[in-house]
Amino acid sequence: MSASLQVDAAGRLRHFLDVEGLSRQQLIEIMDTAESFAGVGDRSVKKVPLLRGKTVVNLFFEASTRTRTTFELAAKRLSADVLNLNVSTSATTKGESLLDTLRNLEAMQADMFVVRHGESGAAHFVARHAAPHVGVINAGDGCHAHPTQAMLDMFTIRRVKGEFTPLTVAIVGDILHSRVARSQIHALNTLGVREVRVIAPQTLLPPHVEQLGVKVHHDLVAGVRDADVIITLRLQRERMDGRLLPSKHEYFQRYGLTEAHLTGARPDAIVMHPGPINRGVELDSGTADGPRSVILQQVTHGIAIRMAVISMVMAGHAVEATA
Ligand code: CP
Repeated sequence: MSASLQVDAAGRLRHFLDVEGLSRQQLIEIMDTAESFAGVGDRSVKKVPLLRGKTVVNLFFEASTRTRTTFELAAKRLSADVLNLNVSTSATTKGESLLDTLRNLEAMQADMFVVRHGESGAAHFVARHAAPHVGVINAGDGCHAHPTQAMLDMFTIRRVKGEFTPLTVAIVGDILHSRVARSQIHALNTLGVREVRVIAPQTLLPPHVEQLGVKVHHDLVAGVRDADVIITLRLQRERMDGRLLPSKHEYFQRYGLTEAHLTGARPDAIVMHPGPINRGVELDSGTADGPRSVILQQVTHGIAIRMAVISMVMAGHAVEATA
């Protein structure tokens, strides 16, 4: 196995930056490790002592509810100390560079940075410049990747469906701006699902999207037909220049998922959404809260997946330190 920025020569995670480039075996190892942590939240003391004495720093330069809080809970359940840098009240607002912020946090003996940033490539930049003993996890970078979201989605699918190979998965919505979709497509194809479909207007699809290994649909009814898993995505209006869509109302008329659309899907089809959801835009409330929805299970699984990734990256660095 060849070493890369995120994987050492033995295949161990040094950082977790992207699903792309990881093998099926590595994705399965992340899910198996998450499975071993999934019960911790049900205990009266929701903690294991694995990372006692380690310090994890959450560096979120972009808004987040689920990812930031579940990373914090994951690190605390592993007994690490957690520091949440509030970027809006940090010295970043006085002009301090990202590199100087990193150097200062390293001077406080940080062991890990969890990075969310609006610029694609920001987590890779941090990983390239971090001190050798510091692990870096990508918590979402621009339109590029959101690997822990993709892995918690895979974990949710595996827990409900068991096997990946017979599945048809349809991803509906703003594929163009979605780091989640990009990471999900890589993960689903690596795990060997039967078919990955994307359903969107042409204006919300990246050029040459078929080259990612997906079938393109512009019609929602046809796109969800016989699907086992339907993943709805948020319209990322903050990344649009305003000319890509007519209106939220018209978008919902053509691409908003409702119970009526689900009659064409497999009888046991599940509905997913990474959040935050916009009711009446990507899907209606009956679907978001209905019996097929696993949206809140995705959130719970985010803790176990993040415990897995944090512990695996820390373990990768521990091996390096003793080598
Ligand atoms: N799914 C996701 O990344 O949600 P947040 O933006 O709330 O972290």
